[in-house]
Amino acid sequence: MSSTAIAHPNIALIKYWGKADERLSLPATDSLSLTLDIAPTRTTVTLDPGADQHVASWSGEPMTGRELERVSTFLDLVAERAGSRTRAVVETVNEIPTGAGLASSAAGFAALAAAASAAYGLALSPRDLSRLARRGSGSAARSVFGGLVQWHAGDDEGSFAEPIEAPGLELALVVAVLAAGRKAIGSREAMRRTVATSPFFGAWVASVPGELDAMRAAIARADLSAVGELAESNAMRMHATMLGAVPPVRYWNADTVAALDVVAQCRRDGIEAYATIDAGPNVKVLCRPEATTAVADRLRAAFADVDLLVSGSGPGVRILGPAA
Ligand code: DP6
Repeated sequence: MSSTAIAHPNIALIKYWGKADERLSLPATDSLSLTLDIAPTRTTVTLDPGADQHVASWSGEPMTGRELERVSTFLDLVAERAGSRTRAVVETVNEIPTGAGLASSAAGFAALAAAASAAYGLALSPRDLSRLARRGSGSAARSVFGGLVQWHAGDDEGSFAEPIEAPGLELALVVAVLAAGRKAIGSREAMRRTVATSPFFGAWVASVPGELDAMRAAIARADLSAVGELAESNAMRMHATMLGAVPPVRYWNADTVAALDVVAQCRRDGIEAYATIDAGPNVKVLCRPEATTAVADRLRAAFADVDLLVSGSGPGVRILGPAA
């Protein structure tokens, strides 16, 4: 009747940008990410046989409007699969505020998929849990697993994530929180606009398979420099693609560009560091675990009082067991 799950955000090294099918949340390309060990989301789902609608809260605040609608639609899907008409109460707690840009829908829907499927009595394999989480938010399919993860494009059956073996490759990420406000345009709408209007979108879709092959090969030989170069280049290409939309989608601000300069200077000074940027102005710096202090010092020197988060490779979603 009640179940709690915990999931971590993930950061893509080969990005997901654009859907092939909106309803089923099928991506236009494969993507590849690192699950983090910071900023977990903990979600409890409790079935409420007396209720006539789903209720959800985020860190104690009731969810309303589009947010609640998205969660309710997802719960309807889980209930339908379980052959149940019972409504649920969802309580979600995040370790860091949503504004930091890491309290992502990936961790949120991975935790919700795990807690809701358990509460409704569905025993899903990790693969089927990933397929389910995908329906809440595409990138949530990847947060079901820990470490490096590849999410496959495909049809409803074939589009799931799975972990990648990465012996000997240790990755860390320094997140520079450059702007903590809500973003101007949500990634869902921005993707839609890119697919519909950017003349570069076809080139993006055509280039990702080759980048993925190169990334898989770099991971297999534990080549951090190649992993970093490929990740930075892929992030630039994703932003180039959306800058080509009409009207353009630009998430960067002046600090974003300044942070890219800091990362480039790190490399010139012999600190291996590579940047990636998602649907917001914050810059995430990929490096070896032993380089995080040097990278953080450089960022602090460039941005007074900047919030920095340091992460290593984190675990997949975990069900903490029935609460009652
Ligand atoms: C830029 O997974 O949030 O972070 O499927 O519409 O919920 P929806 O989108 P979402 O998009 C993530 C976009 C990205 C790149 C990535 O994580 O691969």
